[in-house]
Amino acid sequence: MIKVVEDSSFVEKAVLYIKNIVDEREKGKPFHVFCSGGSTPKPIYTGLARAVSDWSLVHFWQGDERYVPWDHPDSNFAMLSECLLKPARIASSQAHPWPILASPQLSADTYQTELKRVFQQEGQSLNLQILGMGSDGHTASLFPDSQALKEKEALCVANLVQAQEQHRLTLTFPALALSQQVLFLIKGADKANTLKEVVEEHKHPAARVRGRISTTYFIDRAAASMLDLASKG
Ligand code: 6PG
Repeated sequence: MIKVVEDSSFVEKAVLYIKNIVDEREKGKPFHVFCSGGSTPKPIYTGLARAVSDWSLVHFWQGDERYVPWDHPDSNFAMLSECLLKPARIASSQAHPWPILASPQLSADTYQTELKRVFQQEGQSLNLQILGMGSDGHTASLFPDSQALKEKEALCVANLVQAQEQHRLTLTFPALALSQQVLFLIKGADKANTLKEVVEEHKHPAARVRGRISTTYFIDRAAASMLDLASKG
């Protein structure tokens, strides 16, 4: 589903959209949210901290991370903590950051063990996967031409991203495919052409992610400007 909102109200509408999903969750059961990094979701996480009053049993995970300490300015967990976890007073037992250990692969293997325990052994659901998309069509840290795109078994891998000269930690396509609901948050004219290629031509890594129940592209008019929306209803 493609949901287009005015550029000026993108953050406010995204907060309401996610708030509704969280508020409508089945009570008394854990609800697992995987959070994206990057700049787009920052004000949305801040808005959610104010908008949602009941976070009980909501668990926060991350679709990807940079291989940096949790207090590093590039850390997605640092951003999530600053914008949402701390202001909303989320208990540490409900936060599941990627461990940053002696090597990127050890970090990925350790996070994978946790995911397998919760989502395979215990059979809990990966309820909501919040993703962004780069202007190169990457999502999470599944960058074009990177090794991680080929992974068919593992749920978590370390991915050396040449263009950024950075080790990233990321869910793989098999892991993302466990998501019940996938929600892409994409805004800005700089993403319009790539989004058209993703949605209409199924190109780029972002095009390969589908939720088991739903896949929603929550976008602003600028990002939607090259889509043929008439044919999408
Ligand atoms: C990250 C993100 C990444 C992000 C896109 C879009 O770690 O940076 O997980 O996949 O979603 O790069 O980033 P912007 O929202 O800043 O455009």
